[in-house]
Amino acid sequence: MTGPAAAGPSSAGLSPGGPSAAGHSPGGPSSAGLSPAYPLRTERPVLRPWRLDDLDTFHRLRRDPEVVRYLYDEPLTRDLADAKLRSLNSSIAAPGDWINVAVEVAATGEVAGDVGIGWISEVHQQVELGYTFFAAHRGQGYATEASAAMVGLAFTGLGAHRLSARLDARNTASARVLERLGFRREADFVENEWVKSEWTDEAVYGILASEWAVHHPPSES
Ligand SMILES: CC(C)(COP(=O)(O)OP(=O)(O)OC[C@H]1O[C@@H](n2cnc3c(N)ncnc32)[C@H](O)[C@@H]1OP(=O)(O)O)[C@@H](O)C(=O)NCCC(=O)NCCS
Repeated sequence: MTGPAAAGPSSAGLSPGGPSAAGHSPGGPSSAGLSPAYPLRTERPVLRPWRLDDLDTFHRLRRDPEVVRYLYDEPLTRDLADAKLRSLNSSIAAPGDWINVAVEVAATGEVAGDVGIGWISEVHQQVELGYTFFAAHRGQGYATEASAAMVGLAFTGLGAHRLSARLDARNTASARVLERLGFRREADFVENEWVKSEWTDEAVYGILASEWAVHHPPSES
């Protein structure tokens, strides 16, 4: 349920530098932010910044009730999709910023979905992951592959200590993506959120840089 593209500012969770940061000294080396060199090529999908001429595609993704079922957002009108698209960024300069990129199927150039990482806290070196994919492009591993690239960027480019993801506990497809990526299910909150007119349970997943590094030695990154 995370990320500006996925969820909207009201779901940001921790505010930049957040209340919990007050009075703390930096927990580790500070980051200069992240400006990836696009396009980012993975084995199959290609990640590139969203463009204003993607509005039809972006709106089609975000107006689908099934796609937004477990997000905070309702299906977006075209105007809201336009505003959201214009607010997306492809680099991170400061805590609170998110990168959201379009995931293209390299073989066809079709946009399969969106993946994003957000710099939640510099003091605590925390980054959050989010993604949304068209139903027609699911079941092929694109979300996992694109997310793996963003996870790598968060650890190697942004210097994250821990990556997290928050989801509606019923979102089993999303949980499987995270588990394939090596995330650990750390918490299950019971009816802690009021979303789409009902109390919902939230699951929190996390992975540490040290855990990710075990499977990704420096020569690979
Ligand atoms: C969450 C979401 C991105 C998961 O999509 P997905 O298609 O299941 O995930 P992937 O693209 O990684 O595909 C994985 C599936 O493809 C299968 N697959 C087929 N070929 C594959 C390949 N070459 N490589 C990897 N997996 C492959 C996997 O076995 C897996 O199937 P399974 O989940 O039944 O085990 C998607 O359901 C979605 O966009 N939902 C709506 C938005 C949303 O809820 N976002 C998350 C908010 S927290």
